[in-house]
Amino acid sequence: MSYRIAILPGDGVGPEVTKAAVSVLSSAARRFNLTLEFEEYEFGGAAIDQCNDPLPPETLAGCQAADAVFLGAVGGPKWDKGGPRPEAGLLGLRKELGLFANLRPVELHPALADFSPLRPERIKGVDILIVRELTGGLYFGEKKRDGDTASDLCVYSKGEVTRVARVAFNAARLRRGHVTSIDKANVLETSRLWRETVIEVHANEFSDVELRHELVDSAAMKLITSPGSYDVVLTENLFGDILSDECSVLTGSIGLLGSASLGAGANGLFEPIHGSAPDIAGQNVANPAGAIASAAMLLRYALKQDAAAKAIEQAIFASLDGGARTRDLGGELSCTDMAEQIVRQLGS
Ligand code: IPM
Ligand code: MG
Repeated sequence: MSYRIAILPGDGVGPEVTKAAVSVLSSAARRFNLTLEFEEYEFGGAAIDQCNDPLPPETLAGCQAADAVFLGAVGGPKWDKGGPRPEAGLLGLRKELGLFANLRPVELHPALADFSPLRPERIKGVDILIVRELTGGLYFGEKKRDGDTASDLCVYSKGEVTRVARVAFNAARLRRGHVTSIDKANVLETSRLWRETVIEVHANEFSDVELRHELVDSAAMKLITSPGSYDVVLTENLFGDILSDECSVLTGSIGLLGSASLGAGANGLFEPIHGSAPDIAGQNVANPAGAIASAAMLLRYALKQDAAAKAIEQAIFASLDGGARTRDLGGELSCTDMAEQIVRQLGS
């Protein structure tokens, strides 16, 4: 099978971890007899530097035509001083591709339990899938500035909640059968609509799945005090942004985690959860595991190549088990060393 993959290296450590992910994808392609065509495009701050637009039309067209999109990272202090922002490119791409569901798995690797800020008995067995709504809420509502007053409008429709709730319930059926829906229904009208809709979708289509509701403030606390009590976490855009960073450190390093942004169509966007890390950019010390885990998700969700996805995930696990450690995990392996170890484990 032959697939086209749009590659957006982006900013900061983005290009380094993207190179690592592409090397692992190429090696998986050899082992599983797939033809992957990689087409690289300017995106984010790098594209602002080239043409003052974080999402140039050629990049968007390339992503629309591809079977999947891989992104390194966007943003950095260089573009904080006014003018177009790299992040606007990412938000635009999510919206244009209709990627309303963002999947962020948070799984503990036993060999890394010591890197968690939580005690081993508390972190044991943590395996959470965050399903974050990605194209609505405060991120996309009308923004206004009037002198010293500013506002961001938070809007959700029943349809937007329904479609992402279905993603969460379907995922729960393939896991431990439990969804926690997180909102702020004691204060926000959008959250009340969110909760009512989730209850309705559950009752009509997914009554076999267990459902509980939590308020976001208390959930932020419980994710630390009893992370093992969560299976699938379903939440809106901004809460999901915040809670997924919180959850990512439970496992020891944000550098380990990947994500998939999916919509109704085939082509999803796959990117590590970590940002552009400008402080370590260009030094070849970033942990590529999160980017490589995202590459595995690309094979699973966009290309339906589950065996290849599993092989990459096992190769990451085996490397960590064998003691492979980048700097964020107290080791000395470079980004390229770590990628090479994973490629070796993949055995192609
Ligand atoms: C993320 C990031 C983005 C977000 C930024 C870069 C716009 O933090 O993917 O979590 O807020 O969604
Ligand atoms: Mg974020």
